[in-house]
Amino acid sequence: MIDRIKEYLEQVNAFESNDVQAIEDFRVSYAGKKGILNSLFASFREVPADEKKAFGQELNILKAAVADKVKELQSQQLSSNGGSARISDPTRTPFPIQTGNRHPLSVVKNRIIDIFTQIGFTISEGPEIEDDWHNFTALNLPEYHPARDMQDTFFIQTDPDILLRTHTSSVQVRYMEKNQPPIRTISPGRVFRNEAISSRAHCIFHQVEGLYIAKNVSFADLKQTLQYFTESLFGNSKIRLRPSYFPFTEPSAEVDIYWGLETETDYRITKGTGWLEIMGCGMVDPNVLENCGIDPNEYSGFAFGMGIERIAMLLYQISDIRLFFENDVRFLKQFKATL
Ligand code: DAH
Repeated sequence: MIDRIKEYLEQVNAFESNDVQAIEDFRVSYAGKKGILNSLFASFREVPADEKKAFGQELNILKAAVADKVKELQSQQLSSNGGSARISDPTRTPFPIQTGNRHPLSVVKNRIIDIFTQIGFTISEGPEIEDDWHNFTALNLPEYHPARDMQDTFFIQTDPDILLRTHTSSVQVRYMEKNQPPIRTISPGRVFRNEAISSRAHCIFHQVEGLYIAKNVSFADLKQTLQYFTESLFGNSKIRLRPSYFPFTEPSAEVDIYWGLETETDYRITKGTGWLEIMGCGMVDPNVLENCGIDPNEYSGFAFGMGIERIAMLLYQISDIRLFFENDVRFLKQFKATL
């Protein structure tokens, strides 16, 4: 038996060819499914016990020799044909595979989520097709309230009660209706407004809403949370809160971060002030808590809301919001490194 293997080994070592088909036939005759190697391995059972070890060793030598020979002949064959011969592995891709990468809005959304989940916020979601109650009325915006005009709304034609949510604040209503304090949650999602599309406005964009409700929550807690957030995201902890108005918070504020005035672009994007507005926030109006089944005498809380596009535009210095929606790969692949 062992002699037979040795004979095969001699044949293998002596084999030479420069022909693709002949090399392939050689490979199949030895290493193919019904080839010599497999039939030798199958006969292993019949080998007497005291010869098994030597037989196995020789067989492995033969197997390695076949693999080496095939490799050697294939590469010889390829180089003698200037590399243009039929490729021996037909399953090999003829071009390098290009991997994709996340959309910049997903990158930024995930970073925001990471920052808040690290301090105990959960993630909540709600429907994009909303009813009037969750988008407006419960948020202290009763029918005919003039502040409804702050956000131009897409209504469903057949039912004036159903609309495309204009902000993710609707999710805080849904969350409070289902959960009692303490509440710490952020709600990322898509929102819709009936706007003329321009470099700064789009009908569809994304927001992240934040909500914190517990006992004795104060404005200082809000400011500290925002400070932590801006420092984590922008590496910049200098913020200011400007008094503002939102129907669902009282008092309300707009949050600016200090961007600086070093370059001409800084002047342009901050309109010469050095400050950039990044989100709205405030203490949840007691009416909103009550509308959602939470006792405002026992609990207080803060809320905030920001646009993901706006944050991404600032982080990556993108000047036109439409770039996020065109999905031009020349734009998208620039965010590969941010994966
Ligand atoms: N919903 C507001 C908007 O879309 C953003 C916002 C402002 C959310 C203040 C809040 C808040 O929760 O407290 O413009």
